[in-house]
Amino acid sequence: MYDLIVIGAGPGGYVCAIRAAQLGLKTAVVEGRDTLGGTCLNVGCIPSKALLHASHMLHETHENFEKMGLMGAAPTVDWGKMLAYKADTVGTNTKGIEFLFKKNKIDWIKGWGSIEAPGKVKVGDTVHETKNIVIATGSAPASLPGVTVDNDAGVIVDSTGALTLPKTPKSMIVIGAGVIGLELGSVYARLGAEVTVIEYLDAITPGMDGEVQKQFQKILTKQGLKFILGAAVKGAEVKDGAATITYASKNGGEDQTLQADVVLVATGRRPYIEGLGLDTAGVSLTDRGFVAVNDHWATNVPGIYAIGDAVPGPMLAHKAEDEGMAVAETIAGKHGHVNYDVIPGVIYTTPEVANVGLTEEAAKATGRKIKVGKFPFLGNARAKAMFQGEGFVKMIVDAETDRILGCHIIGPNAGEMIHEICVAMEFGAAAQDVALTCHAHPTTSEAVREAALACGDGAIHV
Ligand code: NAI
Repeated sequence: MYDLIVIGAGPGGYVCAIRAAQLGLKTAVVEGRDTLGGTCLNVGCIPSKALLHASHMLHETHENFEKMGLMGAAPTVDWGKMLAYKADTVGTNTKGIEFLFKKNKIDWIKGWGSIEAPGKVKVGDTVHETKNIVIATGSAPASLPGVTVDNDAGVIVDSTGALTLPKTPKSMIVIGAGVIGLELGSVYARLGAEVTVIEYLDAITPGMDGEVQKQFQKILTKQGLKFILGAAVKGAEVKDGAATITYASKNGGEDQTLQADVVLVATGRRPYIEGLGLDTAGVSLTDRGFVAVNDHWATNVPGIYAIGDAVPGPMLAHKAEDEGMAVAETIAGKHGHVNYDVIPGVIYTTPEVANVGLTEEAAKATGRKIKVGKFPFLGNARAKAMFQGEGFVKMIVDAETDRILGCHIIGPNAGEMIHEICVAMEFGAAAQDVALTCHAHPTTSEAVREAALACGDGAIHV
């Protein structure tokens, strides 16, 4: 009899299991993939970051090396070797989790699990008994009517297929200007493809601060990506190894077509709960098909919990990890907690885009008086030395208390720098607290301090 069986070994599930084992619970994880780590490690965050890194390096050699006096022929792409580097990166990390499981005496039950009844998880022909179950089964790409994904054929693909294309495409259509579309679209643009992004809304990256959206689109356009906004994709056909997309303005009008070697469907993800037996177990779902949970990640069935992409909230690995730790602590009789107001989001393009807390639009909508402090990377020596002076840091504070409500960064190292503000927000800091903190020179983090200074008496280097 286990104390806890976690279903799914993605960032939510494996982190939950490790914390549970550390707290003395006899723990097992059910995972049907050949390797641990879930979507994030196997076919998501990590392999895409390997390709982003490699393609960024290539882009640097083409765009900036000569400017720095680095002469000579720019490298060409050996796609097979690049995919092998990506696979190695994934492999070392998935093995790392196996090691952590052994170290923490967590059993890996190999296979796909389903919940027979509270306290009973069936894998293959065996039913495993447990006091508690955590559903951490993650999400899968959402389908788009009229567009059939076939990752093996490699013409119309989702985010998984886009990581193993047989060759680098000359042209690519990306459907959806969200995080996946822009990260993977950037990879193939840098590898030489002509990339066109078709987005239903009138702006890219839904939900992001409006000023960041505009600047981000401008920078990506300069990098060669084309955008068709306000357009709904209605269908796709494959002929002779290439695809034709049909789309129309979302306000109506004539159908238009566009052709490309590869089409990437990146129109969102849905919770992955098929075959889990939630019906039989009596677990309730939300009206949007997520597992319904309370503030302690408990479902309506005692002893069954759920976390990560399977429950409502941002579909982010780190949000799942936080919930994993917190639910393990709750099950162990402690007080697990996640601060949903301070969950950073990062897009790993060049420049990176990072945010935490409220956008200017959302802060205004709360009805409170706000102040906005902005600082451009053009005033930051370190960013300019890296040819990345195009972005900015934008801090949003409560005008009366100076408390930081949100921060948005588009620029070099944005994904690392945002954490200074996450910590500040966890401590309920005012912009003045950040402004009065000495920041090393020359660093890109100085731009964060300057934005904080701009919320008070003014930034220095503008
Ligand atoms: P998304 O929800 O971020 O973006 C999907 C986009 O597709 C939206 O802008 C939507 O308006 C558009 N769209 C939907 N139907 C369309 C249609 N018929 N025609 C044209 N456009 C259409 O979803 P995405 O990029 O697929 O990512 C899924 C999830 O994975 C997100 O929650 C994201 O946060 C997460 N993720 C996070 C990453 C990160 O943190 N760096 C990396 C990759 C994924």
